[in-house]
Amino acid sequence: MASVRSVTRFLLGKNLFSGNIVPASNSGFVKFYSAAPAYENIKIDVVGSKKNVGLIQLNRPKALNALCKPLFVELGKAVVDFDNDNSIAAIIITGNEKAFAAGADIKEMQNNTYSLNQKGGFLREWEDIGNCGKPIIAAVNGFALGGGCELAMLCDIIYAGEKAKFGQPEINIGTIPGAGGTQRLPRYVGKSKAMEIVLTGNFIDAQEAEKMGLVSRVFPVDKLLEESIKLAERIGTHSPLIVKLAKQSVNQAYETQLKAGLQFEKSIFYGTFATEDRKEGMTAFVEKRAPNFKNE
Ligand code: CAA
Repeated sequence: MASVRSVTRFLLGKNLFSGNIVPASNSGFVKFYSAAPAYENIKIDVVGSKKNVGLIQLNRPKALNALCKPLFVELGKAVVDFDNDNSIAAIIITGNEKAFAAGADIKEMQNNTYSLNQKGGFLREWEDIGNCGKPIIAAVNGFALGGGCELAMLCDIIYAGEKAKFGQPEINIGTIPGAGGTQRLPRYVGKSKAMEIVLTGNFIDAQEAEKMGLVSRVFPVDKLLEESIKLAERIGTHSPLIVKLAKQSVNQAYETQLKAGLQFEKSIFYGTFATEDRKEGMTAFVEKRAPNFKNE
């Protein structure tokens, strides 16, 4: 496939991932990114025609982007920084052509013990992704296995390249999914499919993943990133405040029972009527013009 660098360079005509982030014209970016840490396990950039899409590429290609702790600490920081940056509308997490991520780092955890996991809160860093208020798109080419599949499921939308492979193969190494695989997968694809995937350790391809609802769309490998950026840009045309509320509300469907979820949804729905953006959105519709959202 075309690399992240070449696709985004093509889209934006600029030099990407050349070290630290390239400052954007917006003064907020300059301030933020000039202080951006030099990451070792990820690369970050700001893309899209309005430069409002935060792009994170997992970057441990030799280990198929195995999710070691230093990588996750960096990933969590990058997500939190983009979440706090008012000029970013949505975030994309991607890998490379061979691997989105082949799971938690088996070599790193090989000698862990039960008590070490408990005392150290093993995988605690992953909560930063789940706590992000902005939409996160997983753009998956290649393997998304174990923790890689769980990371994709922690995101809000999964787009896949046609050669992507998903799976929860932890059973092959004598353990079970530990970052949401046994909980999110059944909610997304149903019990029987989830059981089959978790209990066999077999991989499923992108087309099957789309059919079962794990993935929302499949693209040619070299179009995946471009399409993911388009999706993020489309989301970025809406009020950031209402996008955040809508994300919270959809997530309740997976985090609560139906009745409590419906109540939560209703309270958020009513709450949008206290916002200027809801008023502007409906007024613009009635007046047949484009809305001018103010994030208020
Ligand atoms: N952790 C650490 N290193 C890994 C890794 C992982 N999860 N996956 C791959 N690697 C490393 C390999 O050890 C290898 O390193 P060396 O070159 O130093 O030997 C390198 O990446 C390339 O991998 P392979 O040679 O195995 O590549 P392949 O193309 O032959 O096979 C693969 C690809 C099928 C993905 C295979 O690498 C594999 O099965 N990986 C493990 C997948 C897995 O079990 N994931 C679940 C991890 S546990 C987990 O994630 C727990 C959780 O829920 C949080």
